[in-house]
Amino acid sequence: MTEYRMGQVHSSAPGKIILLGEHFVVYKNPAILAAINRRITVHLKPNGDNFIRIKAGLTEHVVSASKRQLSKRRTNSDSFLYPVISCINDIQYQMSDFSGLDVIIESQIPHGEGLGSSAASCVATVGAMRGLFGEIDKPTICKNAVEAERIIHKNSSGADCYVSTFGGLIYYHPTRGYTHMNPKIKFRFLVCTTGIRHDTGKLVLKVKKFRENKPSIFEELAERAKIICNDAKKAMNRGDQETLGKMMTENHDLLTRLEVSHPKLEEFIDICMSNGALGGKLTGAGGGGSMIALIPNKKTDEIVSSIRKKIPHSVIVELDQYGLQVNQTLNPDKNF
Ligand code: PMV
Repeated sequence: MTEYRMGQVHSSAPGKIILLGEHFVVYKNPAILAAINRRITVHLKPNGDNFIRIKAGLTEHVVSASKRQLSKRRTNSDSFLYPVISCINDIQYQMSDFSGLDVIIESQIPHGEGLGSSAASCVATVGAMRGLFGEIDKPTICKNAVEAERIIHKNSSGADCYVSTFGGLIYYHPTRGYTHMNPKIKFRFLVCTTGIRHDTGKLVLKVKKFRENKPSIFEELAERAKIICNDAKKAMNRGDQETLGKMMTENHDLLTRLEVSHPKLEEFIDICMSNGALGGKLTGAGGGGSMIALIPNKKTDEIVSSIRKKIPHSVIVELDQYGLQVNQTLNPDKNF
């Protein structure tokens, strides 16, 4: 049993965009992901009254700090809280004198829109719980967060939790694991949210069925996705925006053939491309959610403002290189 600190803990973790390789990454294909400067923050405070009170936006959940009661509280409306509750649940049983917690979750990441909100909430919650007794070991936190995320999305590749924990721009390779990339130039990504929430688990299942029903088509798409991802990595390393843009658009076409796009995503991609973006694709699970467009480093403001006239819910995101932060204030200059 571990003694925990009685103070308050603040922990935050970034959302992410997937530049290349979503869905195929579940089948051990490579992927490129980036943490973004939109975070989920979890504030924890031991309250001594034997209840866990979780406030997230307008919702408040009050559950007894007993394992049985926590696991009963699972309905569709609070599904996004399952992993959060699970993280708290698992870790509280390692504490000798656990007697309730106040939990406040603040989010800058829309839920169910492909920007890694569930991974970020798991990472931030595990980080906060571990922070209560001063253990900020990122690999362990990442492992626990992946386990929690698998409660709602059991085939999760784990890549979202990795990038949220460690931050930065990450290339994932099925045998070599994760490597941090350090491209020569800054790439600008515009994130456009459709407002159509998706269910990652259902979309991953849809792809699983596609793979079972049409194995040769799936293999062909996956093989091409692998080549594109590796070419995009090289393009990024040499600062080649045009090639990266083309690879992103081609990756989107593969995802459309995989049947995970949505008419709204197609419309947004067309708008971005006809207004000067170098590439555009869905990001995350698709079926709604969000898309990203690569905006050239020249005429950036002009292009962004013409896209934003047609897609108001679009924003340029910065990459985040901090990942999980526990009881720390971020220095905005360190974002790249
Ligand atoms: O839509 P999101 O943010 O849940 O991202 C899902 C990414 C997938 O590749 C579709 C699944 C995964 O586990 O990597």
